Amino acid sequence: MDKKTKVMIPCLLLAAICSSVFSDIWKATVVRNIDALVESCVVIPCSFSHTGGNLPTSRLRAMWHYKDRSPDTKGNNIYHDDPTMILDNFKGRTRMLGHLGQNNCTLEITDVKNHDNGPFCFRIELVRTEDNEPTKDKFSFVEDCAELNIIPSPPKPTLIHPKSVSQGEPYTVMCSVIHTCPTHVPELTWNLKTSGVILYQREIHSGKMETLSILTFIAEVKDDNSELTCTAEFSRQQKASSTVRLSVTRIENYNHIIIPSAVGIGIALLFGILCIFMAKKYKNRIAELQNQDGTMWNRLSRLSRR
Ligand SMILES: *[C@@H]1O[C@H](CO)[C@@H](O)[C@H](O)[C@H]1NC(C)=O
Repeated sequence: MDKKTKVMIPCLLLAAICSSVFSDIWKATVVRNIDALVESCVVIPCSFSHTGGNLPTSRLRAMWHYKDRSPDTKGNNIYHDDPTMILDNFKGRTRMLGHLGQNNCTLEITDVKNHDNGPFCFRIELVRTEDNEPTKDKFSFVEDCAELNIIPSPPKPTLIHPKSVSQGEPYTVMCSVIHTCPTHVPELTWNLKTSGVILYQREIHSGKMETLSILTFIAEVKDDNSELTCTAEFSRQQKASSTVRLSVTRIENYNHIIIPSAVGIGIALLFGILCIFMAKKYKNRIAELQNQDGTMWNRLSRLSRR
């Protein structure tokens, strides 16, 4: 080994270490499995990090391609910053929702077809600012893939409701659907016209969303045994409904007995008091008359004796 080779070996070793370190500076987090309803949309959450800190969007180029197919070939990308590189079948159906400058590579696929299974992988490239060409020499990429679980027909909404409600009390029914399309959320409608509806959206976890509609109305006796239906419209053709039968319990009301009885008793009492009063009054008057009669009789008898 000459002197030159002795110097070369550590240098090569260092280069190997350096290159392995550099290929590790990108990291991506992509949801591996996500449901996607045919005709609806799906949003695949994705984020990446770079050990060199945040890079400006202008220096980054993003693409989503079929796994095991090179993104440098035209037909292999479902998304590419250069639209000519996108597979015809996906043209106009994919959109980067995330801002690359914020390390967000979230992808939206609209009008999902039943063959959109994937797996789809995210790749990022650094480009030269001068001519927008990828820096092939120092080019870094991240690969992480998402598989779509295609759902052919929409799920039925879940209804949450009380077993029974007393008349005059508020009746609250909740209608919930789980989906993966937060950009075009399913529309929830009821077969009851009321202003008492609250809509609510939340993320359950990793791309799974819940849309909730809460309906409240005052229960009336006429609502008992009627059907309440919630319909979830995911797209024009994709609709599903669930129905609940309402149960309203009547509050037993004895007014129809109590009021006439009270009136009857009242009248009877009044009449009774009146009778007693009258009786007393006439008793006195009769006694008075009898007394007067007595004196008259006495007078008369005295006169006849004379
Ligand atoms: C990425 O972007 C999407 C779409 O704008 C957003 O909903 C999501 O919250 C972002 N993710 C992070 C981690 O910021």
